[in-house]
Amino acid sequence: MNFYDSEKMVDLLKPLGYELHNDGDDADIIVLNTCHIREKAVEKTYSELGRIRDQANLRKEKTGKKTIIAVAGCVAQAEGDQIMKRSPWVDIVVGPQSYQNLPELISKVDPIEKNKLISIDFPVIPKFDQLKSKITQRGPSAFLTIQEGCDKFCSFCVVPYTRGSEYSRSIYSIIDEAKKLIDAGVKEITLLGQNVNAWSSKGKDGKVWRLGSLIKELAKINELQFIRYTTSHPLDMDLELIEAHRDIEKLMPYLHLPLQSGSDNILKLMNRKHKVDDYLKIIEKVRNYIPNIAISGDFIIGFPGETDKDHDATIKIIKEVKFSQAYSFKYSVRPGTPAAVFFNQVDEQIKSSRLQEVQNILREQQFEFNKKSINSVIKVLILKNGKKVNQYLGRSPQNQSVYFNHEKENLIGSIINVKVSEAFQNSISGSIV
Ligand code: 5AD
Ligand code: SF4
Repeated sequence: MNFYDSEKMVDLLKPLGYELHNDGDDADIIVLNTCHIREKAVEKTYSELGRIRDQANLRKEKTGKKTIIAVAGCVAQAEGDQIMKRSPWVDIVVGPQSYQNLPELISKVDPIEKNKLISIDFPVIPKFDQLKSKITQRGPSAFLTIQEGCDKFCSFCVVPYTRGSEYSRSIYSIIDEAKKLIDAGVKEITLLGQNVNAWSSKGKDGKVWRLGSLIKELAKINELQFIRYTTSHPLDMDLELIEAHRDIEKLMPYLHLPLQSGSDNILKLMNRKHKVDDYLKIIEKVRNYIPNIAISGDFIIGFPGETDKDHDATIKIIKEVKFSQAYSFKYSVRPGTPAAVFFNQVDEQIKSSRLQEVQNILREQQFEFNKKSINSVIKVLILKNGKKVNQYLGRSPQNQSVYFNHEKENLIGSIINVKVSEAFQNSISGSIV
């Protein structure tokens, strides 16, 4: 979602005359878009801000020009004026629900007065209704936020506090943006939301539509070739969405469905509102409808109170589900969330060794999954050049990275068939059919 927000900020700043520069040495403005989900990400914000200060000072010495420094994203939302105190060289702090104000805030920065500008309110008019910026530049695959915020309040998670309560964009604004992305050359759209399958809005027929119907509608756009969505919650996994996977060819056979823990006790403490068995039933149903679907997930390891027995239950479930790939994280205390004050925090070393065990199994499963693709022919969207000469990188329907070589014309943005000949831990490779 931060990638999406960053792209939107670029769209907003282009009409003011700014151009995107990946190297900030001579930038007039540097926007640091931040993540608050785990402590590590927050620490990064402050170390990056130190580096950005040095960069800006050097530029000032060399050219006499001031660099405007802005902090956006969820650290901005959560820490607000704390950032200005810890890093007084920052000019603007703007939250994820108010970055549409960035052009106005920039115009108010006074290099001499050193005024500080903070915009972290949750606006009455949702930002999407104010974001009328033109789409400037996108690659073959783009994100499109359709839903934001969360009302689930898992006890470990900051999202309901930083991104606010659940909000679904209207079908009309989503279709409008999808068409603009297509006009900019996009072939694949990944629909985004903290709880993307909780999306619901009034449909074209006046009835309440859910994600399955939205995907069906988007699939009617001819030039749109691949549709994906992330991230889903087990409680919102309805039959309509599962049927959409079966019936809509453009919807890719990949489901990212976080489970977080394989222990019912821990799920309860996490306030996940479902049991392990509910999750397994969903996976069984999904696989019945779409046998080749790749299943991914998220796990939090070492949540307060997690015993060896709870951990073993997580290992057991991972082995049972057989993920194509999954993310796992050590539990990270987030100030202000209920779990931060739970008494029985797990020892750091135990967390590390449990995480290692989980990641070893997940790595093995990913390799096994990739090996199954060998000798198959898959449809691949070419995203960019690889690191080697004549090498291309694309994405498979099941969300694997696919490498192959080609010498003649530029293939970026094309959709081609690749015969897979080799499988690796994180990718597969082959040749054009
Ligand atoms: N500690 C560790 N991981 C977390 N996640 C969310 N909050 C925390 C936390 N406090 C993980 C969850 C979620 C993913 C986006 O980040 O697994 O699904
Ligand atoms: Fe956070 Fe997801 Fe739980 Fe919402 S459902 S509180 S975003 S982990």
